Amino acid sequence: MKKRILIFMAIVFSTSLFISISAQDIALPAPNKTGGKPLMQALNERQSTRSFTKDNLTQQQLSDLLWAGWGFNRSDQKKRTAPSSMNVQEIDVYVALPTGLYLYFAESNMLKQINNKDIRKLCGTQDFVAEAALNLVYVADLGKLKKKEGDPIKESDLLSSYANTGFIAQNIYLYCASENLGCVIRGSVPKDKLAPEMGLRPNQVIILSQTVGVPKK
Ligand SMILES: Cc1cc2nc3c(=O)[nH]c(=O)nc-3n(C[C@H](O)[C@H](O)[C@H](O)COP(=O)(O)O)c2cc1C
Repeated sequence: MKKRILIFMAIVFSTSLFISISAQDIALPAPNKTGGKPLMQALNERQSTRSFTKDNLTQQQLSDLLWAGWGFNRSDQKKRTAPSSMNVQEIDVYVALPTGLYLYFAESNMLKQINNKDIRKLCGTQDFVAEAALNLVYVADLGKLKKKEGDPIKESDLLSSYANTGFIAQNIYLYCASENLGCVIRGSVPKDKLAPEMGLRPNQVIILSQTVGVPKK
């Protein structure tokens, strides 16, 4: 009898654990891959914004934003909306939201929760980073470039990752221009403080961050 009760409790505990972990992830709605402003108009309106309201993006906007930046546009070939050097695709896009830090999984179109802390303030040195809806943090996984944990990392090892991030960031700029949202790409990131909060491994390197939100009128 005692054994049965223990087994029952173990099942209840593991089920609730499983549900609570998966419940914290965000399954995004399918991205809307049509519409928006014409490309030339979006280019004409692209700009950096540094003043945001506290409004959040809708889940549809979040899905569309991330797909525009770094989603798969040729899923059968596992290729994306932005190019990457030798198609290594070493850039991971982390999303710092008020509800926590998430990692974007383009294939399953979901945000996997890394932790439940609001680390937006830590994503930059300018006041608006803590106010805006979200900060994207672009992280190069040098493991995909055959760097082992603990291997020394030179600035020159990161050249392609900076270029690859630039393409993603420009896609985000154009999506924001098209959706009347605001954003700014930022090199001002306190990487030494942010990396441990994000739980990054030694061969994961923060490249840049990009603040996104609803612009103040
Ligand atoms: C690599 C890079 C790093 C940047 N870092 C910052 C930053 O830390 N903070 C900031 O407010 N803007 C930053 N910017 C945005 C530039 O200041 C901005 O693009 C420039 O002033 C031109 O304005 P525009 O984007 O509206 O055309 C950065 C831009 C780039 C390309």
